[in-house]
Amino acid sequence: MAHRGASRYAPEHTPAAYRRAIAEGADALECDVRMTADGHLVCVHDRRVNRVSDGRGAVSAMELAELSELDFVSWKAPAEDLPEEPDREDEGERGVLTLDRLLRLVTEADRPVGLSIETKQPSKWRGEVERRLVEALDRCPIPGPVRVMSFSARSLQRTRALAPGLPTVYLMHFLLPRHRGGRLPVGASIAGPSIRVLRRDPGYVARARAAGHRVHVWTVDEPADVDLCVRLGVDAIITNRPGEVRERLGPI
Ligand code: G3P
Ligand code: CA
Repeated sequence: MAHRGASRYAPEHTPAAYRRAIAEGADALECDVRMTADGHLVCVHDRRVNRVSDGRGAVSAMELAELSELDFVSWKAPAEDLPEEPDREDEGERGVLTLDRLLRLVTEADRPVGLSIETKQPSKWRGEVERRLVEALDRCPIPGPVRVMSFSARSLQRTRALAPGLPTVYLMHFLLPRHRGGRLPVGASIAGPSIRVLRRDPGYVARARAAGHRVHVWTVDEPADVDLCVRLGVDAIITNRPGEVRERLGPI
């Protein structure tokens, strides 16, 4: 799964990054969604737009029209260790990427591609993010599998209440004592540990699977970590480098 698109090589959360991920063979795309002041879901990781655009300010305080005027492409400078320059196509698509636009992009792929959507700052909007997310998915169904992810168990519970059939991924920076045995909070169907969890506690994958949960691991960019995930039999690898990971995994 391509984390924010092929975001090692193209500016994250842009059509170019997602198209590149699809072209590199990603099975699914990861994105973060936040709500704008006027109630639109847009794909931005940080609370503020400062790092990834030429604007300043919090996404939640800005309207879609304002975010659409910003440039979310040009901030990413080519780095010396990159094999190729960041993708500069999609010149006309520099403004913020909406979830609706990303869903359409996924439907335009020449094969079914999945989508794992992470709710960011869900508690601020008391259920509106989840409601609008489920509405967007209803408006534009995609052929591949969809999952909703969050560090907030409450957000997953809200999603589950709105769309009981939608798989939900509980993201974990570390394991709380109550989750070490493999159990997840109510409302979560898939375990989403950081790769750091597995480096420290590789047995977690077997425990989560024995408890009936698939395991989606993030963010896995180092070859040794890819190999660890394969050895442990995880169900999904979320990476900024989908092409390289695909190559390392070999033909499926
Ligand atoms: O896929 C989960 C991962 O994206 C969570 O961390 O900070 O990159 O959203 P973050
Ligand atoms: Ca994320």
